[in-house]
Amino acid sequence: MKSMSYLVRPIQRNEWEDAMQLAWDTFLIYEAPEYSREGINSFRNFIRDPILKRMFIMGEYIAYGAFINEQIAGIIGIRNTSHISLLFVETGQHHRGIATALVRHCVSKLKEHDIKTVTVNSSPYAVGFYHRIGFVDTSEEIVSDGIRYTPMKLTI
Ligand SMILES: CC(C)(COP(=O)(O)OP(=O)(O)OC[C@H]1O[C@@H](n2cnc3c(N)ncnc32)[C@H](O)[C@@H]1OP(=O)(O)O)[C@@H](O)C(=O)NCCC(=O)NCCS
Repeated sequence: MKSMSYLVRPIQRNEWEDAMQLAWDTFLIYEAPEYSREGINSFRNFIRDPILKRMFIMGEYIAYGAFINEQIAGIIGIRNTSHISLLFVETGQHHRGIATALVRHCVSKLKEHDIKTVTVNSSPYAVGFYHRIGFVDTSEEIVSDGIRYTPMKLTI
């Protein structure tokens, strides 16, 4: 198969809505079926929250995208300096290394700031992915506001 070419770079302000739409569309397919209605609403409220967008604009919420021909195909968000809070790859582009590249990109940026540990609350669907790239569980699965997740960390 011809190798897929994508570019990882910061998401621009005018790409925020597209990035959140990608998150929502992907969430509906892979995560929503495993969440309660409360969990689905919590997630929708999180990505639509104007405060999140404001934090992004202020540089307090970091977001990178993977772009194929300038079309967004994957996103990763970092809050509280070193916590992955969104990681989504468009459904047609899975298993092409995009999520791995997004995490690696963040890791290299965080290392520049002497950060030693990255954390994530993994969705049930992504547990195998995070384990594959070296994350370890720091707790059993938790359910909070209807959202199911497994807390994990990666020493970098
Ligand atoms: C989880 C997700 C981000 C992975 O994206 P991806 O770009 O397909 O991941 P990669 O191609 O970098 O995967 C690297 C390896 O991780 C493993 N992997 C990937 N997705 C996996 C999954 N869902 N379950 C178990 N292992 C997985 C595979 O070993 C894969 O290698 P392979 O393709 O050679 O088999 C993507 O499936 C997704 O968007 N899922 C829905 C949203 C989600 O759950 N996000 C996490 C929120 S915390």
